[in-house]
Amino acid sequence: MKKIGILTGGADCPGLNSVIRAVVRKAMIEGYVVTGIKNGWSGLIENDMRILDLRLTSGILDRGGTILGTSRMIPPLPKETINLISENFKRNGMDALIAVGGEDTLKTALTLYKQKSLPVIGVPKSIDNALTGTDYAFGFDTAVNIATECIDRLHTTAESHHRIMVVEVMGRYTGWIALEAGIAGGADIILVPEFPVDMDVVCDALKTRHKRGKSFSIIVVSEGAKIQGHYVPIEEGAPKRRHRVGNIGELVANFIEEKTGYETRVSVLGHIQRGGTPTAYDRIIGTRFGFKAVDLINEGKFGQMVSLLDNKLRSVSIAEAVSKHKAIDKELYDMAQVFAA
Ligand code: F6P
Repeated sequence: MKKIGILTGGADCPGLNSVIRAVVRKAMIEGYVVTGIKNGWSGLIENDMRILDLRLTSGILDRGGTILGTSRMIPPLPKETINLISENFKRNGMDALIAVGGEDTLKTALTLYKQKSLPVIGVPKSIDNALTGTDYAFGFDTAVNIATECIDRLHTTAESHHRIMVVEVMGRYTGWIALEAGIAGGADIILVPEFPVDMDVVCDALKTRHKRGKSFSIIVVSEGAKIQGHYVPIEEGAPKRRHRVGNIGELVANFIEEKTGYETRVSVLGHIQRGGTPTAYDRIIGTRFGFKAVDLINEGKFGQMVSLLDNKLRSVSIAEAVSKHKAIDKELYDMAQVFAA
């Protein structure tokens, strides 16, 4: 009987358990045994794993987080660690490995595939939605819905107090969450890393809005947003950080208050965007991704990542998926500008 290993690495997000559950179901039909590796790559370093069965994976579809646990391991991992992972994979008699994760996890998976010929399949997970070659990673839809609800709630208090509300959302190097939650929540201004703006222009837009009789405004700012001329929150070449990228919300708010005199408050949504139950959409694509991952193992398509393009399941090489950050859709961004202030 063939043995499949599965691990969840990097930042957690809602929908991970949907993938695990689907992999176990589908693998059982195909006659595979599934080993759940604990805490991402750590489990393969420390040999921390257990067989997953229907009992362990039932009732988890709607649970956020991951029943396997996760850990952050920023690539490139040392050569000895790569060797150890590869040895432990073989020692445990595994025939294939499903690595569920974002950029960091998949970069390590790619190294193992290229340097050790490890038979690995990737599954795209990322609230940031920044992986190339797939329209969606699971976790993103839930994050957008959570952020949208928060923006809705901030609207009422902003209006009552005649304030500017700056809402800082996650997304790291791309503005997907800011753009989609901003559009859905009716934000007046959306600031993203892909299109740096001049804060003077933002302040002028707020003043124009006030002149129109609107005494409050909502600004959604992506944590990695860049501001032309005035502030550059992410230094070029600065070491990668795995927590808040910039403190940008505070910078934007201070600037607005200084330039306009309008009372301004900041809400940093942070890890709330990664917690709790997945949306129906994330449960569905998580389930589809899990099935597809087992299909790719059957087809021997190692070194590939499951992808979703035009709502059809496909696969793309992991190398392509991690080659660059998928920037936000320009058309959508331009549409959002029509509603700006
Ligand atoms: O990549 C997902 C993400 O939530 C980013 O949006 C954010 O910048 C980062 O992870 C936060 O990482 P951590 O959970 O390690 O603080």
